Amino acid sequence: MFENFPIFPESASTLSGQVDALYLFLVGISLFFSLLIAVLIVYFAVKYRRQSANERPQEVHGSVALELIWSIIPLAIALIIFGWGSLIYFQQRRPPASATDIYVVGKQWMWKFQHQSGRREINELHIPVGTPIRLTMATEDVIHSFFVPAFRVKYDVVPGSYRTMWFQATKTGTYHLFCAEYCGTKHAGMGGWIVVMEPGEFEKWLSGSSNLSVVASGEKLFQELGCVTCHKQDSTGRGPSLSGVFGSKVKLQTGETLVADENYLRESILNPQAKIVAGHQPIMPTYQGLISEEGLLQIIAYIKTLDIPTSTTGEDAINSAPTRKDEVSSKQP
Ligand code: CUA
Repeated sequence: MFENFPIFPESASTLSGQVDALYLFLVGISLFFSLLIAVLIVYFAVKYRRQSANERPQEVHGSVALELIWSIIPLAIALIIFGWGSLIYFQQRRPPASATDIYVVGKQWMWKFQHQSGRREINELHIPVGTPIRLTMATEDVIHSFFVPAFRVKYDVVPGSYRTMWFQATKTGTYHLFCAEYCGTKHAGMGGWIVVMEPGEFEKWLSGSSNLSVVASGEKLFQELGCVTCHKQDSTGRGPSLSGVFGSKVKLQTGETLVADENYLRESILNPQAKIVAGHQPIMPTYQGLISEEGLLQIIAYIKTLDIPTSTTGEDAINSAPTRKDEVSSKQP
């Protein structure tokens, strides 16, 4: 609709049409009332101008009907804007469960991406068309903001925690990616391209990499950093077992209960003393500085795959390394 009207960037995601519609509605409302008020000012100025030197206008003592009208109409309009905006916001903040995960790390001044398969890219992100994509985003230094105008999505990436956002491209093409938060000297150059491809083409592109998958890299780190020596699959380790921990409720020493999400796991690795699991000692050393943002994303992706061992049969129970969900399921036809 707006191809030849460059005020709007291209519209290329499932949400961009809705965002534009709400935006146009807001502009329409503003225009309508601005014009109405301007015209009425001129009209009344002429109509009620002073016509003789000793003219005294009639006093007006208010009108309930008028006051109701100018209270209820704006209220209704504001509620429509609120309801409509919330609907879009909820859709924008809730990725479908089937979304494909991609990991993003921002740093001065580039965007680094890693696909589940392990393939990495910098300042360029290839995605398949028609597939929901969930980004888990971290930053190595300051606040950056991931902005793709054609998808009508923008989300800040804040140091010390993970941010997630999602989108689904509706047509193939190459779309601008920007950093939308001033982050230093080369902020203006911190951008790149989202390349949206046909699914078949994308699969071909994705397979052209020999990197370890994200989960496999995480598993490797889990061994190399020695996590595995304390976090055993059963509860015989010095640290809590991590099997099935992701998304589960964790009871802390303070009596507090929380849901183990990405940010909780991240904090537990970098600042283990912050939240001690009930029944355990604060003996875990910090891994701050020993593991990169990418490494953290990988290790958390690995922990997410750890499953509670299915009614352990003999040797499995002794096996100290946690079992991966995909390994478990591959054993059961
Ligand atoms: Cu990163 Cu601006």
